[in-house]
Amino acid sequence: MVDRAFKAAAFVGVSLDGFIAREDGDLHWLTSRGEAAGDYGYDAFIEGIDTVVMGRGTYEPGRTYDPWPYEGRHVAVLSTTLPLDADPRISVHRDLGDLLRALDERGAKSVYVDGGQVIRTFLRAGLIDALTITTVPVLIGSGVPLFGPLERDVPLRHVATRVLGAGVVQSTYAIEPVT
Ligand SMILES: NC(=O)c1ccc[n+]([C@@H]2O[C@H](COP(=O)([O-])OP(=O)(O)OC[C@H]3O[C@@H](n4cnc5c(N)ncnc54)[C@H](OP(=O)(O)O)[C@@H]3O)[C@@H](O)[C@H]2O)c1
Repeated sequence: MVDRAFKAAAFVGVSLDGFIAREDGDLHWLTSRGEAAGDYGYDAFIEGIDTVVMGRGTYEPGRTYDPWPYEGRHVAVLSTTLPLDADPRISVHRDLGDLLRALDERGAKSVYVDGGQVIRTFLRAGLIDALTITTVPVLIGSGVPLFGPLERDVPLRHVATRVLGAGVVQSTYAIEPVT
């Protein structure tokens, strides 16, 4: 278990068969249904966030978003390949240890963890406290997975489930620290 001063949460949209994007990065299957779902709580979620952590796979398609959706928050990107000075709006970290030291130094308190690989890295390291999964009613067959192999089970405590518009189902789980 890693010592840390922050709480971390993932807030992610998935297909019913567990994918967060198509293999080519397409998200239309998600965004089109997300719009029909109505208020799915993202604005309330991000309101309490001071730091966004994501992988290069999430940063790269998002870097041209206009307006930049993380204004006023620190954005830390995990990547072994992105130049360290790639973008003045982000800090780049080569591995989890480097990232955790930087979060500690910056006094991060409330971290939003995004991207499939990075969420899995944080889960394996026992670094996520809450998972909100918004499931849209579609099977896409293949794509970028949210979950994957684990060295040990991760028990979850169900907090809430609500049914939004267009058959979108959102569930929140807490992950208790392993003692
Ligand atoms: N549906 C949703 O809510 C949702 C949310 C977020 C993202 N997405 C989509 O999901 C796709 C990206 O997901 P993903 O799972 O492929 O990627 P990801 O986790 O965002 O990024 C993966 C990349 O991050 C870097 N990385 C991950 N762990 C690392 C570690 N421990 N140390 C150093 N670098 C590390 C690596 O970059 P290098 O190769 O540079 O080393 C790796 O290739 C995109 O299409 C995005 O749009 C969807």
